[in-house]
Amino acid sequence: MKIDILTIFPNMFDGFVSESIIKRAIDKGLVEINVHNIRDYSTDKHKRVDDYGFGGGQGMVLMPQPIFDAVEVLKTDESKVILMTPQGVPYKQECAYDLSLEKHLIIICGHYEGFDERIRTLADMEISIGDYVLTGGEIASMVITDSVVRLIDGVIERESHINDSFNNNLLDYPVYTKPANFRGMCVPDVLLSGHHANIDKFRKEESLKRTEERRPDLLEKR
Ligand code: ADE
Repeated sequence: MKIDILTIFPNMFDGFVSESIIKRAIDKGLVEINVHNIRDYSTDKHKRVDDYGFGGGQGMVLMPQPIFDAVEVLKTDESKVILMTPQGVPYKQECAYDLSLEKHLIIICGHYEGFDERIRTLADMEISIGDYVLTGGEIASMVITDSVVRLIDGVIERESHINDSFNNNLLDYPVYTKPANFRGMCVPDVLLSGHHANIDKFRKEESLKRTEERRPDLLEKR
């Protein structure tokens, strides 16, 4: 898969692409992530990317020209263009699964007070990562990229995401590591028993219990 991210703050992605599972996926050639500075596409002699909004109001608005030009350069028949905005559809694991099957994502990060409304016409979908407002779409685009990349075949073991929280609308069961007794808090006996059928049963029950307690809304969707 190829992911092109359009941003006015490309340095924000330095750590994201050079650590952990994302780095490993890039190194293995399972994903190519290109971070593009929107400013590089500006035809303005001062490389401006934003300006005051017509009609007044506070803050700067991202101009359409650099973003249209960037998308037109990068887009092919296989591309899906995503716009990060708090006005988009709420992001869910199901959407991450769908996006992980795409060949090419182009993710546009909005910033400052907003982006020119005409930029919306470029997008195949608009995504919000939650009902709160970030200073820009950069962190939101990392959330999308991270959750999609880990689902690409070969990035992590299939087993790990089959048991993910939200798979089948269930939260994950609790996990433990050494020591078996930490400050009097003991690992449930069944996990030390080596009895796989009982361990499976325990995990299913805990998963259900946890979902009932914390996210009963998920169970209604099952
Ligand atoms: N940009 C600012 N806030 C956002 C959010 N909640 N989701 C996606 N993009 C955003």
